[in-house]
Amino acid sequence: MSVTMVVGLQWGDEAKGKVVDALAPEADVIARFNGGDNAGHTVVNEYGTFKFRLIPSGILNPSASVVIGNAVVVNLETLNQELESVAPFTDPGKKLWISPRCHVVMPYHRILDGLYEEAKGAASTGTTRRGMGPVYADKVSYNGIRLYDLLTPQQFKDKLSVQVRIKNAILRAFGHEELDGQQMYDQTMDLFEPVRHMVREPFGMLQDALQADANILIEGAQAALLDNDWGTYPFCTASSSLTGSITPGLGVAPKWITRSIGVAKAYIGRVGNGPMPTELTDETGDLIREAGNEYGTVTRRPRRVGWLDAEITRFTCQLNGIDELALAKLDVLDKLPKIKVGVGYRDRSGRTDLRYWDGDAHWLETIEPVYEELDGWNQSTKEARSFDALPEKAQDYVRFVEDVIGSPISIVSVGPEREAIFPVK
Ligand code: GDP
Ligand code: IMO
Ligand code: MG
Repeated sequence: MSVTMVVGLQWGDEAKGKVVDALAPEADVIARFNGGDNAGHTVVNEYGTFKFRLIPSGILNPSASVVIGNAVVVNLETLNQELESVAPFTDPGKKLWISPRCHVVMPYHRILDGLYEEAKGAASTGTTRRGMGPVYADKVSYNGIRLYDLLTPQQFKDKLSVQVRIKNAILRAFGHEELDGQQMYDQTMDLFEPVRHMVREPFGMLQDALQADANILIEGAQAALLDNDWGTYPFCTASSSLTGSITPGLGVAPKWITRSIGVAKAYIGRVGNGPMPTELTDETGDLIREAGNEYGTVTRRPRRVGWLDAEITRFTCQLNGIDELALAKLDVLDKLPKIKVGVGYRDRSGRTDLRYWDGDAHWLETIEPVYEELDGWNQSTKEARSFDALPEKAQDYVRFVEDVIGSPISIVSVGPEREAIFPVK
């Protein structure tokens, strides 16, 4: 029996989808436990290129059951599109379990997300505008609509009419056009029809799998620095993206986790606003952005990039209880003559005994990184299929990162394709 968790250690888009796809052939069950269609997990394998938003990246494993856990928020339109994209290769109806406890992202959540962002102006979070803040706010304030409600049309109708009344009051205050409840009801029920038979509570199946010595692979969305509690609030997301969220997100107790893999890029990136101490706004940053194709999977926004921040990654490893690191996108650094790694922070008074958790996001904006500089390898790593096949200086970089973060690197990725990933012994 194994329960392997794969979570992001930076600000998202670390290549979690790719790592999950590589581990998926060993898995009997593959599950998501957080977020919604703000996630975009890219998988490049023998079937093509997929950008999974809600469905776990292992759906193409022919024999595994796949789970959309209860704390995932479901946009039915996105779900239908995704189901169509995998239909030529697999039958999701047979293997997908979507918890009826999942909250539904309604059209008004997306509208409110946009209105709140615009009202905040320069102080906005830079969300994906998929309605995440408003849908999770409705969840915790007992105003949510769950898949359970859609299973009972009258229940849905009653709850929707209350929400339309509440939301219209807010929309009026913003001077926004009001909602048409009947149209929203009809549209939601149409979108629900094709997925209805996959809505079934996975709790019992997961508990049986744990007892039956199955291999369970759990795919995190977003990342520790976007976590609603521990991330750079308010420049974060609305859900919890840590290994510890396995219980509220999926109904699996923490004691079952056997392996926690944290995914980090060999540098760092973020899309959206907020502090990023090691950000590069110069030509080196442009080089990394182009080499790494750092444009948002969901929004196509250029991602901000910078040097690897080992200080912050040490913290996110502690937060998640990481056993092993997967270092992705090492090939993106191939052409750089010198590579820096942020190993600590310095404030304006010169103090260097500072930690991520000493202040909030606004404080972090004022902090300067302390760097160590390493030689680049100036050679392609894209063809490497083992650690020994990496240029010596690339091996030195991997070992340096491992030492300074303090967690072993067990996986290295050197390209988007499924073959371009290998274990480090
Ligand atoms: P996720 O959200 O963590 O699953 O990551 P994304 O899919 O949003 O972003 C990762 C991007 O990097 C995708 O375009 C992947 O195809 C690509 N990618 C993954 N691993 C590697 C790698 O090792 N090297 C390069 N160059 N690209 C990679
Ligand atoms: P994956 O799973 C990168 C960021 C947004 C924004 C902030 C809040 O692909 O790594 P939200 O729409 O969630 O309210 O936006 O969080 N964000 C992500 N950035 N990868 C993601 O997911 C993200 N999910 C949310 O850009 O800064
Ligand atoms: Mg992504």
